[in-house]
Amino acid sequence: MTGKQLKETFLKYFESKGHAIIESSSLIPEHDPTVLFTTAGMHPLTPYLLSQPHPLGKRLADVQKCLRTDDIDEVGDNFHHTFFEMLGNWSLGDYFKEEAISFSFEFLTKVLGMPVEKLAVSCFAGDEHVKRDDESANIWERLGIPKKRIAFLDRKNNWWGPAGETGPCGPDTEMFYWSSDEPAPERFDPNDDRWVEIWNDVFMEYNKTKEGKFIPLKQKNVDTGLGVERVTAILQGYNDDYKTELFWPIIQEIEAITNKKYETHTKLMRIIADHSRAIVFILGDEHDVIPSNVDQGYILRRLIRRVIRTFRQMNVGIENNSLIPLAVKIIEMYKDEYPLLEKKKKFIIDEIKNEELRFKRTLDNGLKEFNRIISNLKPNDKMSGKDAFLLFQSYGFPIEITQELAKEKGLDVDIEEFNNEYKKHQEKSRKGAVKRFKGGLSDASEQTIKLHTATHILNEALRRVLSKDIRQKGSNITPERLRFDFNFSRKLTKDEIKKVEDEVNRVIKKGLEVKRVEMSLDEALKTGAQAEFGAKYPNRVSVYFIGDYSKEICMGPHVKNTKELGTFKIIKEESSAAGIRRIKAVLI
Ligand code: ALA
Repeated sequence: MTGKQLKETFLKYFESKGHAIIESSSLIPEHDPTVLFTTAGMHPLTPYLLSQPHPLGKRLADVQKCLRTDDIDEVGDNFHHTFFEMLGNWSLGDYFKEEAISFSFEFLTKVLGMPVEKLAVSCFAGDEHVKRDDESANIWERLGIPKKRIAFLDRKNNWWGPAGETGPCGPDTEMFYWSSDEPAPERFDPNDDRWVEIWNDVFMEYNKTKEGKFIPLKQKNVDTGLGVERVTAILQGYNDDYKTELFWPIIQEIEAITNKKYETHTKLMRIIADHSRAIVFILGDEHDVIPSNVDQGYILRRLIRRVIRTFRQMNVGIENNSLIPLAVKIIEMYKDEYPLLEKKKKFIIDEIKNEELRFKRTLDNGLKEFNRIISNLKPNDKMSGKDAFLLFQSYGFPIEITQELAKEKGLDVDIEEFNNEYKKHQEKSRKGAVKRFKGGLSDASEQTIKLHTATHILNEALRRVLSKDIRQKGSNITPERLRFDFNFSRKLTKDEIKKVEDEVNRVIKKGLEVKRVEMSLDEALKTGAQAEFGAKYPNRVSVYFIGDYSKEICMGPHVKNTKELGTFKIIKEESSAAGIRRIKAVLI
């Protein structure tokens, strides 16, 4: 079975169990400023796991593009990846352990035909906060997993989430497959890495708060994640994800470029294949992330430079532009399932080329600085972390390059100090990311919810007071204020600002009810509901009505009645870009 067939089979199975199939979201999380990439299928669904109703119902399934950098050092082994596809099914306060585990078991053993003898599971062992998950273990046993193949593990292993700093999480039960040709041992040993984790069913009953507390959620959810690459390899009888069609054409291309064999240069080729796929999917995402020194752009830069560096280790120089044919190959492989890759082909290739060029210049300049730094060191000295950080920040030298070059000169680098410097830098850029966070809500506090409803009223008020052609061009809400961008060609007069304020306050005082109605996207657009230009909406959407004053396609959340809002005040009106004005306002 190919990876593509696995995905289709999974979705068909869960569709037959009453699940609506939803689209993969962007690789860049829209509603969580605390993480750079979507790391799991549940991540884009956070508002619904926290009990916002989903327009497509309580049972969902999808294939989600994911990217994790915490496993980056393991990339090069048989089955760890930065970019990967995750299959998932969700119950939003609908079914729980019994059905979730039964679905997983039936899908693995009946639909995919995996022998029960090769399966093992783990369940949460319990701690002072949450009790041991005997319920899941009993269900597994009843379905046919022997007691000896059920391990109880601690919070480090069998608790999942939240994906960011806060959000839904809970104990989980994980499924493992015996990947070796030797017969599977009777007893499951979670430390034996021939047992490969393939699927995870999380029972999301808690919300982790900013203060680190675990508060029971209003609804009990199920969140699952099955790794496409790993399971495809297993189904094809490989103990190596790279041997499947999801990677093999890339490996063949690398063999041709380097004139070396996968068997002799396995790890290096895996790193290149893995990172190239991640690079193409980041650049080919709906957000135009480009290489830079902060946030997602920095991860992208590191991946590209690591590929170039790894090629160098196989004697292929940067002037070879070897990443380009790999990107072309990857676009070719995935364009049917991800048509945006083909549409963005030029952008992807151009950005890779630019970064290759920049890196070449960097290497030339940085080498001079590197030589200057080490000329002041004696043999057996360590290069300081501060110097390594200077090379990183001012010359774009990835730390690995610095280490490699230092090693050639018989020198060590103070990695601990470098990491401290880097952490300080990252903290600064994280704060920047939170500030820049656009679109959704940075949290779901009472105050942000109020400001969110006020934003809808403001959106409509601007149209009524200034011009019916006004459209939302951006929105950003923190607990302190709302910020709203819209098209308008000139500065607002004092009088106009006052009129807009009065209009919003008039609506607030009317005590209009806020109602959520689900409908098809077509219907929503027909009723004249406001939609953000260029935003991607699913086929069924929620429309929020504020009395009969405003209607907008939106994920919520909102207050129930405008009375709750207090008094609206504009604190700033300024230009945001050519033809775009920006209003900042508060509720007092
Ligand atoms: N969110 C869970 C995971 O990523 C399913 O493992």
